[in-house]
Amino acid sequence: MEVGYCNRKKTDICEGVCDNEYGSKSVLSMSRLKCALRGFDLRALLILLIGVPILIFVIYVHGQKVTYFLRPIWEKPPKPFTILPHYYHEINELDILDIRWHELSPYVSEFVLLESNSTFTGIKKDLHFKENRQRFEFAESRLTYGMIGGRFVKGENPFVEESYQRVALDQLIKIAGITDDDLLIMSDVDEIPSGHTINLLRWCDDIPEILHLQLRNYLYSFQFLLDDKSWRASVHRYRAGKTRYAHFRQTDELLADSGWHCSFCFRYINDFIFKMKAYSHVDRIRFKYFLNPKRIQHVICQGSDLFDMIPEEYTFQEIIAKLGPIPSTYSAVHLPAYLLEQIDRYRYLLPGHCLREKWVSRNYSLHNDLRPKDIAGRCPTGEHPALSGLYLIRLADVVE
Ligand SMILES: *[C@@H]1O[C@H](CO)[C@@H](O)[C@H](O)[C@H]1NC(C)=O
Ligand SMILES: *[C@@H]1O[C@H](CO)[C@@H](O)[C@H](O)[C@H]1NC(C)=O
Repeated sequence: MEVGYCNRKKTDICEGVCDNEYGSKSVLSMSRLKCALRGFDLRALLILLIGVPILIFVIYVHGQKVTYFLRPIWEKPPKPFTILPHYYHEINELDILDIRWHELSPYVSEFVLLESNSTFTGIKKDLHFKENRQRFEFAESRLTYGMIGGRFVKGENPFVEESYQRVALDQLIKIAGITDDDLLIMSDVDEIPSGHTINLLRWCDDIPEILHLQLRNYLYSFQFLLDDKSWRASVHRYRAGKTRYAHFRQTDELLADSGWHCSFCFRYINDFIFKMKAYSHVDRIRFKYFLNPKRIQHVICQGSDLFDMIPEEYTFQEIIAKLGPIPSTYSAVHLPAYLLEQIDRYRYLLPGHCLREKWVSRNYSLHNDLRPKDIAGRCPTGEHPALSGLYLIRLADVVE
């Protein structure tokens, strides 16, 4: 055996080793080692010296991507009834709120809104709604508004502040006068159930006690349709003492295609920056230039990822399918009705209008000059002005 092995590998240098058939075992293996080291040429050493640092650098830069890509190995899809974390909303989303309340207004008897001057992470936050309450005049008679003061405890788990707010919200729902068998919609501001979904549920007998709503997932605006996998929003038949505000999986039932979920659908670049710095995302800002307004604007128009991350999915097939920018949709069909009625005001949410305003303005009375116009009056030919692309030129002056 040994001899045969040596014969196959025999070189001039190693001849001595292989010929030494009668040497002791240890001498033999030492010689083999030397032989192997000599075979190791300079080129391989160079490649090693240059290659390893490059590899380390690549892993440093793309480390998070690598781990996310390998997610199917280290993480299995959630088991039924696993409690999933709440999606935080800490910023100015009055536009989406306006669209949402108008969508639901014909079918909803009571609006409940709780506002805090603190984020879940204990950062001071403006009372956006309170400051702009006059904008929601149409809902005023049906609105139960509550304000809760943050506790501003430093370094505390955000979950604690969140649970305080949730308890306050349960109280507020009671104050609003809810009774058993009323339908209660639980969802974040950026989750918009469609009016006809809620109307359907109002008229159906014997709907499930709890029903999740499947929403179309959009990113940045209604131009980038990601998938239809949003499910956190839910509708409950209210049971006193039993129903609690929650935003995790509570049942297996999901009502198909029941609305829209628009993530990161902000008007101002500064709102993107605030959100990126907010608690649940802060570890993803690996480089300072991620927060550069120009870069953010570019990413918004491309439909790519703000944190340069790999899609969070549970199978390789889905990860690969979602790599790269989200393809644009050019359809404004089946979107919230109020958005299409107010195209001047909400142009940035429509396909083909990705450019955002750079200025920070928390004061929406500034926008009162953007009065609603009658679409039919302005578009006698039936052409949809929101999709004409003309505003790209005007707004380009605003964004550096
Ligand atoms: C937050 O609101 C509470 C209750 O109104 C108030 O006492 C507190 O001073 C506010 N905190 C900040 C930082 O605005
Ligand atoms: C908002 O604008 C109105 C009128 O333009 C002004 O009176 C008010 O002080 C502004 N509020 C803030 C918080 O800037």
